[in-house]
Amino acid sequence: MFRIESKADTSSPEFLRNKEEYLKVLNAYRQTLEKIKQGGPEQAVKRHKERGKLLARERIDLLVDRNTPFLELSALAAYDLYNNEFPSAGIITGIGVIHGKETMIVANDATVKGGTYVKESIKKHVRAQEIAMENRLPCVYLVDSGGVFLPEQAQVFPDKYDFGRFFFNQARLSAKGIPQIAVVMGLCTAGGAYVPAMSDETIIVRKQGTIFIGGPPLVKAATGEEVSAEDLGGAEMHTSISGVADHLAVNDVHAIQICRNIFESIGRQEFQELQMQEVKEPFYPPDELYGILPLDLKKPVDSREIIARIVDGSLFHEFKERYAPTIVTGFAHIMGFPVGILANNGVLFGETALKGAHFVELCTSRNIPLLFMQNITGFIVGRQYERAGIARDGAKFVHAVANANVPKFTVIFGGSFGAGNYAMAGRAYEPRFLWMYPSSKISVMGGEQAANVLITVKEDQLRAQGKMLSADERQKMLDTILQKYEHEGSAYYSTSRLWDDGIIDPADTRKVLAMAIAISQNKKYNKTEYGVFRM
Ligand code: COA
Repeated sequence: MFRIESKADTSSPEFLRNKEEYLKVLNAYRQTLEKIKQGGPEQAVKRHKERGKLLARERIDLLVDRNTPFLELSALAAYDLYNNEFPSAGIITGIGVIHGKETMIVANDATVKGGTYVKESIKKHVRAQEIAMENRLPCVYLVDSGGVFLPEQAQVFPDKYDFGRFFFNQARLSAKGIPQIAVVMGLCTAGGAYVPAMSDETIIVRKQGTIFIGGPPLVKAATGEEVSAEDLGGAEMHTSISGVADHLAVNDVHAIQICRNIFESIGRQEFQELQMQEVKEPFYPPDELYGILPLDLKKPVDSREIIARIVDGSLFHEFKERYAPTIVTGFAHIMGFPVGILANNGVLFGETALKGAHFVELCTSRNIPLLFMQNITGFIVGRQYERAGIARDGAKFVHAVANANVPKFTVIFGGSFGAGNYAMAGRAYEPRFLWMYPSSKISVMGGEQAANVLITVKEDQLRAQGKMLSADERQKMLDTILQKYEHEGSAYYSTSRLWDDGIIDPADTRKVLAMAIAISQNKKYNKTEYGVFRM
């Protein structure tokens, strides 16, 4: 492979200015993350500790193997929603290593409204199980939850991917031989009682964990029976009388130790071989990305400059370099793992789509994971292009991406707009993981284009009635739409709603992608079958 020759002048004023501006954006993100990681209100954290309980993130730290990374997902879920009263949506999810085994961990944060679930918490829990299914990862549920956040019940209870989906998924995961382990460290009530009950193996902490379908107040109201929580669904009872739980722990630390012991008997069931290479650091340092990444999305960025700072040795075997230059395609390694990269380098034309589809076919036929680096305004528009069949060529690319059965990974490094999002493995195309940078943007089209479309439609309507927009009205409409798109297009807005798996620091891209590819090796890659390509 040849080394990419960077053309970036890292001492130029332009580079340094971009870096300074980028670091401001990144630091704002880091501060937000830091605050979110503190969990619920100070008072709730204090009370939680006084009860002798560990915090959710402390529990995870103890559960995973020492000195191994935890790939946390969607840490900013529910950000800027519910008056910011649900940091991380009250649930921490991510992949950690337990006795050498990559495991999906789902931990309720009881300091956040008693660990109750709002819409985003549900989405996060279900997404974690989906990732576990796609990658054959065992699941550990660290349960400490008051169940549904009752004022939001209509948003969390009845639909297909709502609360009930947790237990459906547990049954399906278990049926596939994917271990389901619950550690009950707090309340586990009503529907929530099924998390431990549906698990393959369950641990419960004495005088702390409870499991019941209806708590003491409900029992009293329903039957008049007066019973303590411990007697109704405590650890002693469940491990000796009901058999709902299997192991009695004396405290959090003991429970986590038992959970780790369970993993000693869990082996890896499948493994996808990949053609590995020796790990090399990129020739161009990853933190140079801060000087290169686009903050103004109108400014074109050669995506080879980004690739050079992500891949091993900055080595890249480019495919069809001279053809359809608005997409860069080629092979590289990331921390030793092979990967086929598609990176936008401008708007998508018909030939760009054909090149993309061809490259996806190469990767699926060679069993090489695909990395999509998005910075896309969409497909080219206009009479000439419609006549040449841009929709036909675009469809081939979308078809190839949708059916590609090697793992897909998507990183949005600039903008992600319109159908370009689909062709480049947006969320609907089931990439195994999708990450944003703090500076990234995502919406159906850019704010200015949307404003122009809407103003044109409005003007056409008014013209038909013999009226027209005044300059003031026009400006007001423009400002309102621009503002709305700016707000809704931000990475924070996206990650809050689980349109992605989280925001990452660009300099961590290599590390994060390497973990993701390693995770994907837990399940053999399925054979790809394509349908009818429109010719
Ligand atoms: N729905 C909405 N809010 C809830 C809630 C629920 N199910 N359970 C707890 N909360 C809220 C509380 O109102 C409180 O809010 P605030 O901080 O704004 O006052 C916050 O969560 C913490 O609750 P609190 O009772 O003070 O904390 P705790 O740690 O002592 O107890 C629980 C937490 C979850 C054990 C306890 O609140 C409880 O038993 N909740 C009811 C659980 C239940 O019956 N759920 C059935 C739903 S299917």
